[in-house]
Amino acid sequence: MITKQKGTYDIYGDLAKKRAYINDVLAALCEKYNYGYIETPVFEASELYHRGVGDATDMVQKETYDFVDRGERNITLRPEGTAGVVRWFIENKLYGNMSDPVKVYYNMKMYRYERPQSGRNREFTQWGFECFGSDDVLADAEAISLAYNAYRLLGLDNITIKLNTLGDFESRTNYREALVNYFKPHISELCPDCQERINKNPLRILDCKVDDKSELHKNAPKTLDYLNEESRTRFERLQELLDLMDINYEIDTKLVRGLDYYDHTVFEVVLNDSYALGGGGRYNGLVETLDGPSIPAVGFAMGYDRTILAMEENDISIPINDSIDLYLLYVSDSEKETASYLLQDLRLNGFIAETDLMCKSLKSQFKSVDRYNAKYLIVLNDEDLKNSQVTIKDNKTKEEEKISINDIVDYLDMHL
Ligand code: HAM
Repeated sequence: MITKQKGTYDIYGDLAKKRAYINDVLAALCEKYNYGYIETPVFEASELYHRGVGDATDMVQKETYDFVDRGERNITLRPEGTAGVVRWFIENKLYGNMSDPVKVYYNMKMYRYERPQSGRNREFTQWGFECFGSDDVLADAEAISLAYNAYRLLGLDNITIKLNTLGDFESRTNYREALVNYFKPHISELCPDCQERINKNPLRILDCKVDDKSELHKNAPKTLDYLNEESRTRFERLQELLDLMDINYEIDTKLVRGLDYYDHTVFEVVLNDSYALGGGGRYNGLVETLDGPSIPAVGFAMGYDRTILAMEENDISIPINDSIDLYLLYVSDSEKETASYLLQDLRLNGFIAETDLMCKSLKSQFKSVDRYNAKYLIVLNDEDLKNSQVTIKDNKTKEEEKISINDIVDYLDMHL
């Protein structure tokens, strides 16, 4: 038997319904914030992620699905959405006339070769959005507001935004140097991964899950102490805007995010201090890194799996339709023709209608009526049909009525 790959799962039944519900809620919200929908290809040139996300990141070093295609091209399956959207933005020269920002959102499958566990898969879906063109802190506030309200609309009221700033290039360079100077004398106390990170990506040491409770980590230099005047003012201004919007945030000076493209604002959405349900931030250098002009941008992405798990853990029920409007039963083969065109008519008029496709006995068809939780049922029989009539029955009250076959749609419209 061929089984599904580790870290992947099939989406069907209630899970499919839950996801469709979440898609609808998020799409409607994005429209309110005036974002348009985008989908980028599942595979791109590997260089996009190596350069965009950063060669030294865990993602590129350990997690990307890379392969060489039959045309000898180095290809990577999409591990995250931002780099592909930036590629699209540059390739279509959307920076040409930037009198208004370019705002897009997506809902796409991502691929990371991670150790699968609850809320961490190798194939997973992210809902995310990116806003290009504004360097104003109002755009950062809008991104945080959109992310925050997405979770709240899904019923996750008790989320917190963890917020930090990495500052501009000068601030980050100073901070990086301070971190290296701080950790270097203690290199032997660091985990093997961090001993490598100290040269390649020292900020990531702060995010280490092995040693993060140690005194050494607790006393490490804080980003906020290395901000220049402009970066500090900007961060203060952002907090003022978040306060005005009543957004629940807390400053986390250890938050650095796992991808290399961020500067200034970084944020994550957490619930009860567990893993991040989503994360994002400003990335003013990425368009230029990927050969475009210098265009500021900010964005965010939510993990679907973790959000659904959080909703389940918090007993947030999702409206799932588990009934149908009408089940058409037939007594013999001769009524099947009527069933076929009646069903089409009902479905095109917006009703969820079903009949027996398995040639079951009438008794078994009645069992299907209950299994499908049908609100109404009609037993088609030649006798009634000769007079263009059917008997329609309310499956709850068991009341029934004889009506003209041409009046079924009106009858259901009135009663449902
Ligand atoms: P990220 O933090 O790598 O950011 O991923 C965002 C979210 O995707 C995570 O918080 C998590 O909920 C979910 N996620 C990540 N990996 C997995 C996994 N293996 N299984 C299930 N869920 C996962 C980004 O991807 C950035 N592109 C976000 C962004 C957009 N920044 C600016 N714009």
